[in-house]
Amino acid sequence: MTDKTMSQLHLHPVTGACGVEISGVSLATLNNETFSDIYQAFLDCGVVFLRDQDISLDDLVSFGQRFGELEVHPIVDGMENAPEITKVLKPAGESASFGTGWHSDNTFFEKPSKGSVLYGKTIPPYGGDTVFANQYLAYERLSDGLKQKLETMNAVHSAGEAYTVAGTQDKYDKKTAITYTWDDSIMDEVVHPVVITHPETGRKALYVNDMFTLRFEGMTKAESQPLLDYLYAHATKPEFCCRFRWSPNAIAFWDNRAVQHYAVDDYQDFERLMYRVTINGDKPA
Ligand code: SIN
Repeated sequence: MTDKTMSQLHLHPVTGACGVEISGVSLATLNNETFSDIYQAFLDCGVVFLRDQDISLDDLVSFGQRFGELEVHPIVDGMENAPEITKVLKPAGESASFGTGWHSDNTFFEKPSKGSVLYGKTIPPYGGDTVFANQYLAYERLSDGLKQKLETMNAVHSAGEAYTVAGTQDKYDKKTAITYTWDDSIMDEVVHPVVITHPETGRKALYVNDMFTLRFEGMTKAESQPLLDYLYAHATKPEFCCRFRWSPNAIAFWDNRAVQHYAVDDYQDFERLMYRVTINGDKPA
């Protein structure tokens, strides 16, 4: 994609792989025609960035609802009066721990999320970027032989490891800025194809991630791990990525069926405050 102007919108690709920054749009006064242009950019580019959107949390919810029904997460606590909003607060002096590894959101659900909208309020003077990786490209750049093999395979996903790692107990004990509530479904396992067909674009995408994929169906973890490790490294090559430098009131919204993302934990001294809503998705095909 090259720079493009559509009505009053200016679309500026962030890298050759994914991500587009759109200017000339105000979410506070968004009409249907403009939304359909930015929705097309979401499908085309995997992730869209807007800056300088001084909106309320109600506006954030309304914007998220344009993409579909909003999810209330079974484990990560939402805000008291708005359970569909996650307050992603990282206090100064602590390490970040939310989303700090490559993942697609909630692939441990039978119906993983369609996408998420993340709104940046307090941004550190440096660091705290979010990186995205295009999983269409990751699939397309595999050899024909491996593509064929992977298209016959399924993988097992679960929250069981990611939501029980060292340090997580404090979240269940509500001692941290982001808190969790235990739900027995954490240990459930669900199966998804390793290569999915995007329900709207029809493109094939690689669909395994280091945070929630446990193993290939019908194989042990030890048997699965070498190929999974290869795929994780391949899927996140710099050539498939873009990296977003946040500014206060910037918004990112991504297509969880097309990109993985990674929150960079490199701003220990500083606070970072974001608000996130996530959209319910469908069973991957
Ligand atoms: C996430 O949604 O996984 C976190 C992204 C971020 O905080 O940059």
